[in-house]
Amino acid sequence: MSVKREDVLKDENLIKNIQEIAKDTALLHGVLMRTKETPNSPEVVSYAPFTLFPTPVPTALFHQALAVQTHFNRLVDRVSQDPTFLEETLTSTIKVDDFTARLFSIHKQVQQEHPSQSIVLGLNRSDYMLDHRPDGGTSLKQIEINTIAASFGGLASRTPDVHRHILKVANLPEECNRVLDNNPAAGLARGLAKAWELYGSERAVVMFLVEDVQRNIYDHRYVENELWKRNIPVIRRQFEDVCRTGSLDQSKRLFVDGHEIAIVYFRNGYMPQNYTSEKSWEARLMMERSLAVKCPDISTHLAGTKKVQQELARPGVLERFFPDEPEAVAQIRATFAGLYTLDMGEEGDKTVAMALANPDQYVLKPQREGGGNNIYGNEICEVLENLKNSSERTAYILMDKIQPVPVQNYLLRPGAPLRLNSCLSELGAFGAYVRKGKDMVFNECVGHLLRTKSSEHADGGVAAGVAVLDNPLLV
Ligand SMILES: Nc1ncnc2c1ncn2[C@@H]1O[C@H](COP(=O)(O)OP(=O)(O)OP(=O)(O)O)[C@@H](O)[C@H]1O
Ligand SMILES: [Mg+2]
Repeated sequence: MSVKREDVLKDENLIKNIQEIAKDTALLHGVLMRTKETPNSPEVVSYAPFTLFPTPVPTALFHQALAVQTHFNRLVDRVSQDPTFLEETLTSTIKVDDFTARLFSIHKQVQQEHPSQSIVLGLNRSDYMLDHRPDGGTSLKQIEINTIAASFGGLASRTPDVHRHILKVANLPEECNRVLDNNPAAGLARGLAKAWELYGSERAVVMFLVEDVQRNIYDHRYVENELWKRNIPVIRRQFEDVCRTGSLDQSKRLFVDGHEIAIVYFRNGYMPQNYTSEKSWEARLMMERSLAVKCPDISTHLAGTKKVQQELARPGVLERFFPDEPEAVAQIRATFAGLYTLDMGEEGDKTVAMALANPDQYVLKPQREGGGNNIYGNEICEVLENLKNSSERTAYILMDKIQPVPVQNYLLRPGAPLRLNSCLSELGAFGAYVRKGKDMVFNECVGHLLRTKSSEHADGGVAAGVAVLDNPLLV
């Protein structure tokens, strides 16, 4: 006879036993991560952190996230193709945020030269939390959309089998049957393959642009291996390699280390720290000016900024991008949480007053990626009291804080003791699209990701050591 989840969670001996099996199973299934920021060595590999059990997610909300993804793909693409919108939206931000300003100046330069490549490849991940409303209902609310280096499509392809095995061992067969298949790695590779074919040169390679030390390398490898299976050659290079050996020929074809590059797939370049010298910025510019397909190109990168997200939530703005598609507009808008400008002027002043009056209801966000940058609670007051009369405040946006219902689970991390945590989860939907000129030739939702963290942490992803990999269990 099978047992109940609550009883399993309380049975310390059983949990101890399952824990060991779970860790080994994760290793067997290749849910791997480097444990230290040291050079490539198999000695420093362990399992990537994950939850002992999958987390219940309401079926309708899960399907809502997947269904809206192809609209988000088109939205991101249309925003990236609207230089007037990008310029108007980012004007205040780039005055005070140097990183966004540098990205924007590359975008401007490429615009002036007229982009040389008409093939666009987008691989993104739209993240959501399930907001618990005072009326008792739950709704899907977008945290943000990541248009550059969206990760965990590889490892998420491997975690369902791990949870299935754990649930069998824990005598929860009914839950086991409800763990969903998921293969974002294959889907992301299909997008890359489509763009590679359109580029049209058998010799040309896909270049993963990576950091020197990449703890999450196995996540990349799944996508990489899917490409090799299709006989699409892949190389991994850093900004520094592009600086040293990169060049453009007369027709702007990009060569690195003697390889013609069909696609630059950025798994780096989303944080200021990734640009270690002026040379890295020169390399980014060279890649953007080239005929290689960029994933993402600079304007798609900018379309994923938090300032753009806030602008899109303003009344009437989605209609600009979908003038004849009220249903697409409604589906997208339904996922938006409250987002507020901090631009100088009356509207921004109102936002400041609102945040100071109720800081616990909001999140203050700078234009940064990679986790750990958001500001919560009393710290919002400290920051805004300091900046409220200065244009520096326009480096941030304010967002309603989403309030999910915590769920009990165990988080498994190499070297960390096991304890029962109150946890919050974030659901991601992976999007992939390819456009050639005016034609969208590929537009899909290619899988999902569930990440879970202890509710005591406000911010931070898996790579930052806060969240862990999970799977949705539809209820
Ligand atoms: N509005 C919100 N309400 C509640 N929690 C939030 C909200 N916005 C962000 N968070 C928390 O902060 C984390 C990071 O937020 P966000 O994704 O905006 O930042 P990021 O630096 O771009 O992160 P990432 O590297 O995951 O893209 C989220 O994973 C979530 O846990
Ligand atoms: Mg992000």
